[in-house]
Amino acid sequence: MTSAGMNAVKSHVLDQIAKTPLMTSPFPYMYMTDFFPEEYYSTLLEKLPGDEAYKKYHPPYEARLSIELKPDSALTANEFWKEAVSFLSSDDFLVAMASKFGEHIPKVYSGRREFVEPHRSGKNVSIGNRLILTRDYANYAISPHTDAPPKFITGLLYLARDNSMTNFGTSIYAPKDGKFKQWGADRFQDAHLPYEDFTLLETMSYRPNSAIFFLKTDNSFHGVERSDEYANSGRDMLMWVPEVGVNERSWGNNQLPSSFFYGEDKGALSVIKRLFA
Ligand SMILES: [Fe+2]
Repeated sequence: MTSAGMNAVKSHVLDQIAKTPLMTSPFPYMYMTDFFPEEYYSTLLEKLPGDEAYKKYHPPYEARLSIELKPDSALTANEFWKEAVSFLSSDDFLVAMASKFGEHIPKVYSGRREFVEPHRSGKNVSIGNRLILTRDYANYAISPHTDAPPKFITGLLYLARDNSMTNFGTSIYAPKDGKFKQWGADRFQDAHLPYEDFTLLETMSYRPNSAIFFLKTDNSFHGVERSDEYANSGRDMLMWVPEVGVNERSWGNNQLPSSFFYGEDKGALSVIKRLFA
């Protein structure tokens, strides 16, 4: 794609982020439509590889196939994916998303502190990228969870080909015990909670070129409902999951001003403290 063409894609996406209303209950999220320009979206669907290029997820989620999109992965040798990865892992995209969630980010600083502090240097916090292509088959389900503790914002781009699987989107939940919150769990298995303990609030529509983005908080309970409705139809997604700090799963090294995590006041306060230290 020409650089002018790619710039048009970027400005379309950034405009859509700015235009989409942010929902704040039960946690900050937004459901986006027309995420990419139409033509770019059609090309992206054509470029999705066959099942043989994907790996099975870890048990018990083998109904999900995935490909880690990294700058050095086989798929990224292809110019289309290289450009897509470059844009979605850019500071511009990260800052646009972080700005969208703006004032809500510092509200969960107490949970995020232990990840932010070790990865902060001066005014910036390092953020690692993860981009994962996933393809889910009929028996894929995942019970309510808030996402892994280092995660920052989670983006699920729905790469639907048509409107035949609209109920196969991400569901959001509220705990029946209104006070229950969870930042993380000691064991991975314990982070995924029983459906019975939650009320299903809404299921995002799995529609072409739509996406859900949400802030990982201590109540960002989401999951996928159990259903056998979509036998043998793969549900394609592109997951964008930046994490605070670069760890063994993530790559790159974006720098996000620490004021995003502290809020302006604490950010300003820390600058003053440094000046007088
Ligand atoms: Fe999740």
